[in-house]
Amino acid sequence: MKKIVLLGATGSIGSQTIDLLREFKNEYQLVAFAFGHNTEKAQAIINEFKPVIVASSFKEALAPLKDTKTTTDLLSLISLGDVVINALVGSVGLKPTMECLKQNKPLLLANKESLVMAGPLIKDYLDKGSIIVPIDSEHSALYDLIKIHGSKITDLYITASGGALRDYSLESIQDAKKEVVLKHPNWNMGAKITVDSATMMNKVFEVWEAHFLFGFELNHIHALIDRKSNVHALVKLSDGSVYAHVAKNDMHLPIKYALMYPESTSYNECNKCFKSVEEAISYFGLEELDLKRYPLFNLTKQDLKEKPFYSVIVNASNEALVKLFLQDQVSFGGLQDGILNYLSKYQTIKAPYDLEHILEINQFIQEEVLKQC
Ligand SMILES: NC(=O)c1ccc[n+]([C@@H]2O[C@H](COP(=O)([O-])OP(=O)(O)OC[C@H]3O[C@@H](n4cnc5c(N)ncnc54)[C@H](OP(=O)(O)O)[C@@H]3O)[C@@H](O)[C@H]2O)c1
Repeated sequence: MKKIVLLGATGSIGSQTIDLLREFKNEYQLVAFAFGHNTEKAQAIINEFKPVIVASSFKEALAPLKDTKTTTDLLSLISLGDVVINALVGSVGLKPTMECLKQNKPLLLANKESLVMAGPLIKDYLDKGSIIVPIDSEHSALYDLIKIHGSKITDLYITASGGALRDYSLESIQDAKKEVVLKHPNWNMGAKITVDSATMMNKVFEVWEAHFLFGFELNHIHALIDRKSNVHALVKLSDGSVYAHVAKNDMHLPIKYALMYPESTSYNECNKCFKSVEEAISYFGLEELDLKRYPLFNLTKQDLKEKPFYSVIVNASNEALVKLFLQDQVSFGGLQDGILNYLSKYQTIKAPYDLEHILEINQFIQEEVLKQC
């Protein structure tokens, strides 16, 4: 039995992981999990899986729980698992990610914000042999393609659906209401990532995620629109040929693939070799990304080595502004402009590049955003 620690068990990825743990209960044992505020859902998971211990950052969320040991220390769960699944949302996921790496636990990672905030620190661990199996669908697809094509790959392509506002006029987007933005055309996900999909910030994060996970330079990582979200990634090889990863838009597939590590079996439905990227684009009906519609995607052009806190500032201002957008305190246009404003104000911040300063800058920026609204 593989012992599983699941952080973010009550969320979208967490719940789909729970589905798989239920389906494969003779193979996996949920020994511990963490959640935020959803006590009711946490109690249901406790009743069904009987974990040894449950954590939440919020004491009041733990108080009503019955029939289990509880703690507010999320990090204390990590040593209990054979693998850890980090499905927390936002910057709260970073410390658990770093603790897993420190303890040399295989990490099945959905929390892309960890890599956005501390990519170079995480990459140091990967270079020394630490294991991260990505759960993000595009990166799961790339992980699978890289296993096959390895060092022959020169360029990575990830796809985006275009988000909820992809067919709205550019003028109407500025004042789009959260009810509209939260209606993702293809995926049923948590609120933050659904908003990030509409602004295309999610794809900015995913380009950075791929950069640090797989070691490709930013100008060799590209994004295309797939309106159906079936083509998750493509790779171009040094001879110009292109391979795609195609699967149903169902997060159970990449989660299952990660859970099976190291014996993961590919779920790619496409074994066709294309002569060029153009041929693949035309075959699948993919589209180029329109930078007028998605101006935030330009953030991927910054050389992160020149400004190591750049992605920390983007992540922090985005996280706080998305919170405000979901509380109707900032408009959709204000959310996008706000990120660029905070970036231009703080991107020259200088500090030693380490975990302590990343967390400090993250907190400072988030407080600044919340204070000024
Ligand atoms: N959803 C997807 O299909 C998908 C796809 C690819 C990647 N991802 C990535 O996966 C991660 C999770 O996304 P999601 O959509 O599953 O998010 P979600 O539905 O919002 O779930 C987030 C989870 O984190 C918990 N949480 C939030 N703040 C917490 C805190 N301060 N302390 C402890 N737990 C806390 C929540 O607990 P409560 O609900 O109990 O408050 C919930 O269990 C994100 O990084 C996202 O970008 C998601």
